[in-house]
Amino acid sequence: MHLNAEILERPAQAEAQSPAQAASTMRERAYAPARSEAPSAEVDGSSAARGSESHARSEVPRAEVEAPTSAENSESRARSEVPTSSQQPLIWFDGNFISGDTPEAPLTTHAMHYGTAVFEGIRSYATADGGAAVFRLPEHMERMRKGAQMFGIDFDVERASEATLATLRANGHRDAYIRPLTWMGTGTIGLDVDPLTQHLMIATLAKVVHLGGARTRLTVSPWKRNPATSLPALKLSGAYVNSILAKREAKQRGFDEALFTDDKGYVVECTGANVFMVKNGAITSVDHRDALPGITRDTMIELSGAQSREVTLHELLDADEVFVCGTAAEATAIAVLDRREFGDNPVTRELAALYARVVRGEESRYASWLTPV
Ligand SMILES: Cc1ncc(COP(=O)(O)O)c(C=O)c1O
Repeated sequence: MHLNAEILERPAQAEAQSPAQAASTMRERAYAPARSEAPSAEVDGSSAARGSESHARSEVPRAEVEAPTSAENSESRARSEVPTSSQQPLIWFDGNFISGDTPEAPLTTHAMHYGTAVFEGIRSYATADGGAAVFRLPEHMERMRKGAQMFGIDFDVERASEATLATLRANGHRDAYIRPLTWMGTGTIGLDVDPLTQHLMIATLAKVVHLGGARTRLTVSPWKRNPATSLPALKLSGAYVNSILAKREAKQRGFDEALFTDDKGYVVECTGANVFMVKNGAITSVDHRDALPGITRDTMIELSGAQSREVTLHELLDADEVFVCGTAAEATAIAVLDRREFGDNPVTRELAALYARVVRGEESRYASWLTPV
């Protein structure tokens, strides 16, 4: 395999904030207005944003933007709490920072009943210069916008991006998993979503959960992937019930992860990752219309020159190496696919190492994929 990357100088990054600086930034930013009133400048701590604080409080139904406690309590909580490792990180919610353990959504929240929400999984990485950067933030936000459009959610990419950076700073997070979620709130319990309120939150977590980088035991799922003709291959929350069923079934049989195949024997994807194989040094990325077009998949293709095409399960079982990739999974080697055991995975290892350098800003030719925090 030839990985076409050179090790060049690291790009300059913004300095990471200390917890004290993060606290000060958080105080500055905790007063951004709620969604329905907000210009896109609301998370940048501008005087315009601060000035519309009272506006947001008086005009937005409080149950939608505040904790069940009073607005004042939630305000002082946001002001006084700098999360430490034992505390919940702050969450950006409709323009305000709230404590991560604050219950916010009413029980009649539409998204809770019907899955009418859209999420993203994004990562930020500590960079060697002491800063941090979000990997391919515009691409993630654009995919989220497409998903939001399906429900008629008015999703402002600029605002969500700024809120993401603000949340990382407020929590002092550098290596983090970022979870934005936009959802349909209250207004009706019916299926017409037009009357519903719309919301956005951004959580940042210091820990990543999916697959965890270890060599993974994979099994073909008896469940089929949602066909794209029924549910678009976007990150619509309700669609993930499909992944959850497959993952659960795989774990019950002693495996780590499930592989979706279609009725014709083609590989689709895993529950939260795309699939690649290596045969005689050639890397192939599985292409399937029902699979999420992953941003990590796109990255791996760019880094390795992999060919993208449809792949049968038979071919996958015959490969020298199989790996899966995603924002959370990065590049994770497959140790076992049902009864097929894979040996060493040098190509996967090399590509994973290159990916690790790219996301941390150690490959300057890919610096445009990084948004400094
Ligand atoms: C079903 C599914 N496939 C693939 C991926 C990988 O996508 P990405 O690389 O954009 O994280 C994900 C992760 O979001 C996913 O949920």
